[in-house]
Amino acid sequence: RILNNLGRGALIVIEGCDRAGKSTQCMKLVDRLEDQGIKARLLKFPGMFRSPSGSRIGQHPDMSFAYQPDRSTSIGQMINAYLTNAKDIEDHAIHLLFSANRWEAMTHLKSLLIAGTTVIIDRYAYSGVAFSAAKGLDLKWCKQPDVGLVTPDLVLFLDLPVEEAEKRGGFGGERYETKAFQKKVRDIFMDLRDRSWKILDARVSIDELHARVLEEVMRTIENSKALQIREDLWK
Ligand code: ADP
Ligand code: TYD
Ligand code: MG
Repeated sequence: RILNNLGRGALIVIEGCDRAGKSTQCMKLVDRLEDQGIKARLLKFPGMFRSPSGSRIGQHPDMSFAYQPDRSTSIGQMINAYLTNAKDIEDHAIHLLFSANRWEAMTHLKSLLIAGTTVIIDRYAYSGVAFSAAKGLDLKWCKQPDVGLVTPDLVLFLDLPVEEAEKRGGFGGERYETKAFQKKVRDIFMDLRDRSWKILDARVSIDELHARVLEEVMRTIENSKALQIREDLWK
């Protein structure tokens, strides 16, 4: 039994386009870490996401244990209304709301890391920029609101061709779920790569991908213990 009580927890971000398997991997990862005696928690942005029928949440009933800041905040409720097409919000304005939704979780996030808990996040600022820039907003402008967020120790990008993603139940009627748009999003994700990124081929089985994810995460947890928590994303 490995006890991760020597230093801080690591901040691990799982990114990728829609249907790449992010939520599946996040949940398996947190379960696995806890089984190994490593304190781990799952956060998700946007914090609350539920289609009118509730079907998306239903795919992952375990997601209820994820940190859901928006259930108690008006920001999350606005994002939810936007994603389910219940409400239109101007492109710049919704971008700032997504960012605010991350900022409002930072105090909680930092206290977890300081307490030695490894935090897994399902989407982060990279999704924020990729989706807004794919709509045509200026890339540099898109990055500004998230400058200074806690910097991830590792970003795992689950890479799945859009054609494969489509086969996984197909895209629904939610905003952004079209093939052409998803292709643009992927291109922008690629522009955002930096040293903390690792790209994993997401076409493999759930268990195979889990093994790859775990390998990277274990190494990062070990290497991050003695490092300071940095609040300098894109600075
Ligand atoms: P995301 O959170 O990235 O949108 P999900 O984890 O919700 O993706 O997975 C989307 C769909 O694909 C789900 O129905 C899930 O069961 C399925 N899925 C996830 N990972 C794999 C995989 N490696 N191979 C095949 N299907 C997968
Ligand atoms: P999510 O529930 O994670 O979708 P999925 O599980 O299908 O990958 O995210 C909902 C949508 O919100 C998704 O299309 C990406 C978009 N999004 C933004 O546009 N900006 C952001 O900052 C974030 C975090 C997500
Ligand atoms: Mg998901």
